Amino acid sequence: MVAISVNMSRQLRGAVIGYGFIASHGHAPTYLRGNGVKIVAVADLCEDQRRRAQRDIPGVRVYPDHQSLLQAEVGRDLGKLDFLDIATPPCDHARVAHAAFDHGLHVICEKPLATTVEEGRAMLDHAQSARRVLYPGHNYKHAPVVKSVRQVIESGVIGPVHLVTLQTFRNTHAKGVASWRPDWRRDRDLSGGGIAMDHGSHTFYLAFEWMRSYPSAVTAYSSTRSGFDTEDEFGCTLTFPTGMATAHLSWTSGMRKVLYTLHGARGAIRVDDEDIEVSVLEKGPGVAAAGSPGVWRIERGVARSDWMDASHAGWFGSLFEEFRGAIDRREYVGKDAREALLCMQVITRAYASARESSRQLSLGEALLPDSRLFPQALAGDKLEHFA
Ligand SMILES: NC(=O)c1ccc[n+]([C@@H]2O[C@H](COP(=O)([O-])OP(=O)(O)OC[C@H]3O[C@@H](n4cnc5c(N)ncnc54)[C@H](O)[C@@H]3O)[C@@H](O)[C@H]2O)c1
Repeated sequence: MVAISVNMSRQLRGAVIGYGFIASHGHAPTYLRGNGVKIVAVADLCEDQRRRAQRDIPGVRVYPDHQSLLQAEVGRDLGKLDFLDIATPPCDHARVAHAAFDHGLHVICEKPLATTVEEGRAMLDHAQSARRVLYPGHNYKHAPVVKSVRQVIESGVIGPVHLVTLQTFRNTHAKGVASWRPDWRRDRDLSGGGIAMDHGSHTFYLAFEWMRSYPSAVTAYSSTRSGFDTEDEFGCTLTFPTGMATAHLSWTSGMRKVLYTLHGARGAIRVDDEDIEVSVLEKGPGVAAAGSPGVWRIERGVARSDWMDASHAGWFGSLFEEFRGAIDRREYVGKDAREALLCMQVITRAYASARESSRQLSLGEALLPDSRLFPQALAGDKLEHFA
């Protein structure tokens, strides 16, 4: 008998809160393709953005804030709406998520999860008690080049990774839509921090995946070359039970680029935006550099990932399917949500290290209150690969 796989998921109805750059350029293209999801309402503080939503999304109802949207769209008629997509600046993520859970809705929330660890933890707790999914916008996991890296690691060809370097270069902070506050990323009250708060989540959840464990300590530095109150230069080293990761994030670079390297016992992977190079030292005749017996086999490829398009619109569909899967499985606070909170913990601990002249700070202590959520991280050097 032929097994037929049928997607039993019904159409999800969602509302977007904050119809700025990422919602209109990064999320809307997936929603507009249909495919089992429909955006029925949008809330934005700015009239210009509400108008834009009406132009982009046929028949969408618009509201000036999430409260009026929830009142009108959910009210007592549960079942009219399934989820909120939170794409406001980070200062409002927690408040909107709590309102969504209070109204029985699932949440897909842009990074960073919140601006403080306490806010983030309360979001996870509320999702669990409300029995609704909280899913973070960790879209770099869905970049084609990152999927290629995953395949190479899983093939075992370079061996288990023990060293990772992650560099994100930007020539400026990303600007928000002109109709609101384009420089909100440089205002700590709205963003919670500078480039570490803005890009740290992407950097750290990739490091967790590639190192197959969670970090136990961090040392960090940061600086600001502008008059803003958030950092535009940030670096850190994370100690993992499985090795070490270093990161450098900059809004003052002379280029726009990500450069990642991953090192295993038998080889390495280098990512330069969408270019990927795999080097493997193969046993055999010949002498490679530094006297190692063997020869280097180097393969190069391209996994088109459109890094120059800051909306990363091509990655959101894959992320949204994971969110849908979590809803179907009733996985309210899954690994990605827990890692979103862990990213917050690493970022805030890194800020503390930077304030203390780069003193190495234990993350074990920071993670302790979450032993419930991070049993692996507390298992010290016995960390196993996570699923
Ligand atoms: N995952 C990614 O690759 C990625 C890329 C860019 C932005 N983001 C994230 O998306 C979020 C939004 O960033 P952006 O670049 O789109 O910003 P933006 O300034 O372009 O858009 C924010 C929008 O939210 C509206 N807004 C602000 N507060 C609101 C509130 N309380 N209720 C309703 N509307 C509100 C503003 O009017 C504006 O239209 C941030 O969390 C950011 O970190 C993620």
